[in-house]
Amino acid sequence: MTAMQVWEGAKDDLASAAAIEESAFGDRSWGAASFEKTASSPGVRLLLAGRSRAAAQGFALWLLAGEDADLLSIGVAPEVRRQGVGRLLLDALEIAALEQRARRLLLDVADDNRAALALYRACGFYEISRRAAYYRNGADALILEKPLNETS
Ligand SMILES: CC(C)(COP(=O)(O)OP(=O)(O)OC[C@H]1O[C@@H](n2cnc3c(N)ncnc32)[C@H](O)[C@@H]1OP(=O)(O)O)[C@@H](O)C(=O)NCCC(=O)NCCS
Repeated sequence: MTAMQVWEGAKDDLASAAAIEESAFGDRSWGAASFEKTASSPGVRLLLAGRSRAAAQGFALWLLAGEDADLLSIGVAPEVRRQGVGRLLLDALEIAALEQRARRLLLDVADDNRAALALYRACGFYEISRRAAYYRNGADALILEKPLNETS
């Protein structure tokens, strides 16, 4: 089987990334229009993963803010979960962020999102703060950080 690859998304990739976002998040999806608008905003970068550029199966959206690389969203199509795509995207994010001289990765995640929390912890993120009842369903938001350095 062809190996998974990661590539930097361009304008042409926005529609397929938005479709993955919808399949990954279901009723929590931003919707294609909002996704494409955010992904096209100044400074926002898109990473895609899949076995070929014609068939992306995961995405990550991120933004460099000073020395922080903020992960805005990450999603993997349900049919290919637990195959390392999320981890591959976070590894690629780390490399891209280091290239931009970021000092840390930051993200927020609902404290009831078990899969995402497990992924982030497996990739070396830890909690630095919590916002109580931040999400509509009453879940807390956890702010997670991963410090970066040239040798990590
Ligand atoms: C979170 C998400 C991106 C993970 O993607 P993924 O490709 O399935 O993750 P990976 O296969 O790379 O998992 C890497 C590790 O993370 C952990 N992990 C991932 N999903 C997990 C789950 N459902 N349960 C327990 N651990 C999990 C495991 O340690 C896993 O390693 P292992 O499979 O060798 O045990 C995916 O579940 C998703 O798209 N969820 C919906 C969207 C979402 O919630 N995004 C995050 C918003 S903050």
